[in-house]
Amino acid sequence: MTFTIRATVFQTPTPTRFEHREDVVISVADGAIVEIVDAATFAGTPDVTLPDNTVLVPGCIDLHIHAPQWPQLGTGYDVPLDQWLFEYTFPTEAKCADTEYARAVWDDMVPALLANGTTTAVYYGSIHLDATTELARSCIEHGQRAWVGRTAMDHPDGTPEYYRDTSAAQALANSRASIDEITALDDPRGLVAPIITPRFIPACTDELLTGLGELAAETGHLTQTHCSENDWEHGYVIDRHGVSDTHALDGFGLLRESTVLAHGCMLSDDDFTTIASRGAGVAHCPLSNVYFGDAVFPTRRALSTGVKVGLGTDIAGGPSPSLLAQAARAVDVSRHLENGVDQSLTADERGVDDSRIDATTAFYLATLGGADVLGAPLGLLEAGRRFDAVAISLDDVDNVPGNDTAERRFEKLVRLAGRRDITHVWVDGVQVSGGSS
Ligand code: GUN
Ligand code: FE
Repeated sequence: MTFTIRATVFQTPTPTRFEHREDVVISVADGAIVEIVDAATFAGTPDVTLPDNTVLVPGCIDLHIHAPQWPQLGTGYDVPLDQWLFEYTFPTEAKCADTEYARAVWDDMVPALLANGTTTAVYYGSIHLDATTELARSCIEHGQRAWVGRTAMDHPDGTPEYYRDTSAAQALANSRASIDEITALDDPRGLVAPIITPRFIPACTDELLTGLGELAAETGHLTQTHCSENDWEHGYVIDRHGVSDTHALDGFGLLRESTVLAHGCMLSDDDFTTIASRGAGVAHCPLSNVYFGDAVFPTRRALSTGVKVGLGTDIAGGPSPSLLAQAARAVDVSRHLENGVDQSLTADERGVDDSRIDATTAFYLATLGGADVLGAPLGLLEAGRRFDAVAISLDDVDNVPGNDTAERRFEKLVRLAGRRDITHVWVDGVQVSGGSS
């Protein structure tokens, strides 16, 4: 299928460069962008023309989201991570043993995420094989691009008895079966792929971690896990393994090209160097980290060490489904890191110099940064990449239209735009959300 769309594009080809392409025509064939030309030089009538005050941006990539936690989004932020997992989260996830219940959750969540502009999501499913396969099926049917992982967890330290793989061998067999089932789905556009998902070290035995590392090497599928999220988790791993999460994962063969490491609030410079050398990346989850991370992830330091970084909602650890909201919060928390937060300290003891990021870097993280972590041709509207795109009306966010530069309108978009402003969403060249065009 081929179509053409006339629009003004806002995007970020690097962490520090905002690109504004006024009035272009994008040609799309079989889901891929074939060419982008100035509208003035385009012969013919485009199939779609966006209204004047609407801009087209690359779709957002949610690098870290727990699908079975969707029903508890917005609740339960009163306790630390370990208690949150055992008191609220594991009981919620365990309900996905009922595949029909799980499918109803997925069918509510996937369209809501698309409506928020999330064209790609990297999911943790539940421990259940059937529910996880249904998650992949729901993504295909609603047209969302996704990596879908059955969550593997067999260690009594980090799991409750009622929600745990019964042995490392059984966990490995189910993770392998999940890959096979997802790979066998009818997915003509190739939207969905499996991802190997050890929940985090406290929830996995060494035998399981070793086996999943071998499975990744054997199949070549991507891997994801939580890494040095907060003091408790980071300390647990040092007690158990004598090294940080990064080095422990590396030892298990789980630090690979395009491995997605969630949170990373406690990563050291040495960890960053190791992560960069393996080609892995970090899913920065600024809103979740406010509640559970114990510290602000140093985005600028990570980027300057060569670590690839994208953004995650960490639903339900972070109480918003919007990746644009995460981008705005990524800017906010970077200011807390730079300024410091304890007024009883003097100004020069209070913060960490050179930590702030701006709206351009934040938007890059939400789009191309995530694509680069995954090694996928997404995140930017240019020839050769897939056409995953979001049309955003600036009518509400741009208070006095006509007076502002493109740069300032882009900044307003990053800080103020949300679901209500998103008019159309395309994934792989197919419109999957929004009004008629
Ligand atoms: N660590 C292990 N499981 C989880 C989870 O579900 N959410 C977060 N934020 N951290 C985790
Ligand atoms: Fe998480």
